[in-house]
Amino acid sequence: MTKQMNLGGSFTLPGTKMTLNRVGYGAMQLAGPEVWGPPRNVDGAIAVLREAVAAGVNHIDTSDFYGPHVTNQIIKQALYPYPDGLVIVTKVGARRGQDKSWLHALSRQELIDAVHDNLRNLGLDRLDVVNLRVGEMMEPSAGSIEAPLTVLAELKRQGLIRHLGLSNVSPEQLAEAQTITEIVCVQNLYNLAHRNDDGLIHDLAGQGIPYVPFFPLGGFSPLQSAALDAVAASLRSTPMQVALAWLLQRSPNILLIPGTSSVKHLRQNLDAATLHLPSEIIADLDSIGGD
Ligand SMILES: NC(=O)c1ccc[n+]([C@@H]2O[C@H](COP(=O)([O-])OP(=O)(O)OC[C@H]3O[C@@H](n4cnc5c(N)ncnc54)[C@H](OP(=O)(O)O)[C@@H]3O)[C@@H](O)[C@H]2O)c1
Repeated sequence: MTKQMNLGGSFTLPGTKMTLNRVGYGAMQLAGPEVWGPPRNVDGAIAVLREAVAAGVNHIDTSDFYGPHVTNQIIKQALYPYPDGLVIVTKVGARRGQDKSWLHALSRQELIDAVHDNLRNLGLDRLDVVNLRVGEMMEPSAGSIEAPLTVLAELKRQGLIRHLGLSNVSPEQLAEAQTITEIVCVQNLYNLAHRNDDGLIHDLAGQGIPYVPFFPLGGFSPLQSAALDAVAASLRSTPMQVALAWLLQRSPNILLIPGTSSVKHLRQNLDAATLHLPSEIIADLDSIGGD
C-alpha cells in the first residue's frame, strides 16, 4: 500500500469546503503524443492516477479537450467511484482541430457542450471546479471575458458546476470576472523561467485565492538550466524537484499540478514537497528567471 505523504500542506478554495493538498496532479500527459488519442500504455496511465491518489493527491487538473475525451475517460476508468475529498478541476474554452491544433471554443453552445462532455466522460452529475480558459496558448490576450463567463455562471446556477476559476487571464480580466461571479482559482503559465505573474500571485494571495501554475516544469520542453542542475546536485535532488520546491516556497497560495505519464516521475514530484530551499539557493535560482 502506498504511504500517504506530506504534500506541502493544504489550501482551502475561497468560499468552499474544498481543501486541496498543495501538490496535486495535472492529467494532460495521460493522453497520447501531442495530447492526441490514447496513450501508448493505458495501464501505465491508470497506475499513475491510482498512485497519485493513494499518496494523498486530492487535486487533479484535466480537460475534456485532452485527447480529446481520452484523459477524462482514463480518469474515470482509474478512479471511479471517486474517493471522498478528491477535487477534479476541469477547463473549457478550447477544442482540438482535426490537425491537432488548439482552437478557441468560447461560444455559448460550445461551452454548454463542453460542460456536458466533461460530466459524461468523468461520470459526474456536477463538476467540482471549471476553469474558463481564454487567451492564447501561453499567455492572456486582451478583451472582455464577460460573455463566456456569464454562460458558465448560468450553468453554475443550474447546478452543473460547483465553482468557477479562470485560466490564461490578465489581472484586468480577473477583476472583470469577479463582478460577474466568485472565482476560486486562477491557472496561468508560471515557472522558474517564466515569472510574468509575480504581481498577480501576490494580489491573489491577498484575496485568499490559489494560483495554479500550468507548465510548472516547463511543459512540453521541461526546464533546462545549468544553474538549476547545479542547485539540484548540491541538494541531492533532481532539477524538476527543485523547480517544484521553488514554486511551493514562492507563495503559500501556489498549488502544483505537475504532469507526468510515469509513476517514477510522479513519486519524485510528490517528494519535492519535502525539499527545503535555503534563501541563498533561491537567490541562485533567480538567475533563471527569464521574463
Ligand atoms: N490552462 C492551460 O492552458 C494549460 C496549459 C497546459 C497545461 N495545463 C495543465 O497543467 C498541467 C501541467 O502541465 P504539463 O504536464 O503540460 O507540463 P509540466 O508539468 O510543466 O511538465 C510535464 C513534462 O515534464 C516531464 N516530467 C514530469 N515530471 C518529471 C520528473 N520528475 N522528471 C523529469 N521529467 C518530468 C513530463 O514527462 P514524463 O511524462 O516523461 O514524466 C512532461 O514532459 C497539465 O497536466 C494540465 O493539466 C493547463
